Amino acid sequence: MSKNEKLAKLTVEQKIKLVTGKDNWSTQGYEEQGIDSIKMNDGPHGVRAEYTDENGQRKFYLTTAYPCAAACASTWNRELVHELGKHLANECAYVGTDILLGPGVNIKRTPLCGRNFEYYSEDPYLAGELAASYINGLQENGIGSCIKHFAANNQEYDRGHISSEIDERTLREIYLKPFEKAIKQSQPWAVMCSYNRINGIYASQNKKLQNDILRDEWNFEGMVISDWGATHDRGLCLKSGLDVEMPHCKETFDELSDDLRKGLISESDLDIACERIIGTAEKIAHAKSKRNCVYDKKSNREFAEKIAEESIVLLKNDDGILPIKDNVKNIAVIGRFAEQPVAQGGGSAGVVTDEIESPLTFMRQRAESKYNISYAAAYLNGHPVCAPDCVGNAIATAAMADIVIVFVGDTEKTECEGIDRTSIKLHQYMEDVIHRVTAVNENVIVVIQAGSAIDMSGWINEVKGVLFQYYGGNSSGDALTRIIFGDICPSGKLAETFPTSLEDTPTAKFDSYPGNGPSVVYNEGLMVGYRYYDTAKVKTLFPFGYGLSYTSFEYSDMHLSSSDISNGEEITVSFNVKNTGECDGKETVQLYIEEIAPCTFRPRNELKNFTKVSLKAGEEKRVELKVGHDDFAYYSVALNDWHVNGGRYRIKLGASVEDIRLSSVVNVSR
Ligand code: GLC
Repeated sequence: MSKNEKLAKLTVEQKIKLVTGKDNWSTQGYEEQGIDSIKMNDGPHGVRAEYTDENGQRKFYLTTAYPCAAACASTWNRELVHELGKHLANECAYVGTDILLGPGVNIKRTPLCGRNFEYYSEDPYLAGELAASYINGLQENGIGSCIKHFAANNQEYDRGHISSEIDERTLREIYLKPFEKAIKQSQPWAVMCSYNRINGIYASQNKKLQNDILRDEWNFEGMVISDWGATHDRGLCLKSGLDVEMPHCKETFDELSDDLRKGLISESDLDIACERIIGTAEKIAHAKSKRNCVYDKKSNREFAEKIAEESIVLLKNDDGILPIKDNVKNIAVIGRFAEQPVAQGGGSAGVVTDEIESPLTFMRQRAESKYNISYAAAYLNGHPVCAPDCVGNAIATAAMADIVIVFVGDTEKTECEGIDRTSIKLHQYMEDVIHRVTAVNENVIVVIQAGSAIDMSGWINEVKGVLFQYYGGNSSGDALTRIIFGDICPSGKLAETFPTSLEDTPTAKFDSYPGNGPSVVYNEGLMVGYRYYDTAKVKTLFPFGYGLSYTSFEYSDMHLSSSDISNGEEITVSFNVKNTGECDGKETVQLYIEEIAPCTFRPRNELKNFTKVSLKAGEEKRVELKVGHDDFAYYSVALNDWHVNGGRYRIKLGASVEDIRLSSVVNVSR
């Protein structure tokens, strides 16, 4: 039966029921008309699905908690994120989920946003590239993606009502760009609208976003669903391009029936939405043959560790304190998070899982008889101290060691959906532990488990090493251990700027967060993340794209396939990368463009490509990156379209946005 034949067999009542959820996690199905129900589950870092056991009890499948999106972004590895999609698809197939509610691609506008752990980056190019990789990995294996939250949901504070007031150019270049890239490069089967308003209009009833841009400009072919409870005027949502209201809402049937009766909506409005839902159900049915329903827990957990290994960022390594050297004998491990790591952020992205690896367990196994590992909790998860002597015991332990590894971080209680952080510093009691440990031992390494930038200015000069592991999911214990003992070389790089303080962030400088009642004005405009710090030359703690290695890399011999580029063309940027150190490693090379003497305001640097190169000690490779004419475009409000200013641009290759190694000039024609 064709889509139209199925649609023709539906009564009006059935159509109204089809455009709202059947329950919390699925749409209505109509067997007689050949329309399958669609099952959707959270979340981006692993599928969370419930079932009813033989005793009628509500249970959750135990699945894999993969490293959070912010951790995946720190891998800068498209192929790894693509493979994550495959593993997630396997677990979705196992629990019977048709569409996974992810990835989340909202831009990290302020480090205070409670859901930053769930999002990739402050940069739209990086966020869009990784989202496309994730979506393709999922959908190639028979499971749909629902990219979210469309759009400009960049804070949790008052997310259900606040209006994100954004100028058109900023909206296009920064906040919509990750969605645009992902949709053009991977066609997710669904898009989830956000809770907030954009320039006064709720996302769920925003015709410009859901019809004019998403469908008419970007050719999105799938269905738009609401965030859970994000609809207000259901009839207006329907006419504005929202196809499915989630979850089921019993009042909607009467509301839409009334609207139909009053002529506020028409049956053809219903037909348009129903057709998209039926089309998605058919897409799902056709893709089922691609699913690997044999749940391979071992493979999935091993892969989670592979991501964790590449996501951990080495931020400081004075005196080469890391990796642990052979002449070290006594290692003190301080902090509860070593024993009970914070593996996930809080909220709907939470995965019900088992066997979360403890770094301490793995470190003890790895140490064997070679190192003596002593441990002191120093604090309980979320509580200042478990007892006064607890801290004292930790300090005494630290004093007797050759090296101290202090575990600190945030928790799912403060980095969580529905709330924003109130500070980007560590909890005071954790900073106190660091101060007291460094007072008795000069060889201190700090390991941070958190979901977004941390202000380390209060203590970083007292320690020699800092590792940032984000929320690493199930398998971060082994990954972290292997990096600490040098079995592997750290290769993570920051996908967000770490500012020196909250006061230095653009939203603080422009006083544009959390807003003034009904709205939050994005008056920092394009000045988001490194676009601000780099252009305004504001010092950062650690810049966008930064991450150290145990080895070193040299870039040389940059060449452009052409020194001119015209509309519709692309050029190849080739260069050498050499591992000039003693151990094998991986280097992420970032490609930025800068317009020389722009005729309109532009950020100094804009990321337009990147690649991660694996190199053995001493090895050199020739690497190529493409740059297209469109990459030089900015969004012209005057033209209401993307526009390329003709002129000279620098193409730069950097190890971070502040560490540009090579550059060449190219002549770009309009
Ligand atoms: C939540 C979240 C969204 C999630 C959905 C279902 O409110 O905003 O990300 O997928 O509801 O739990």
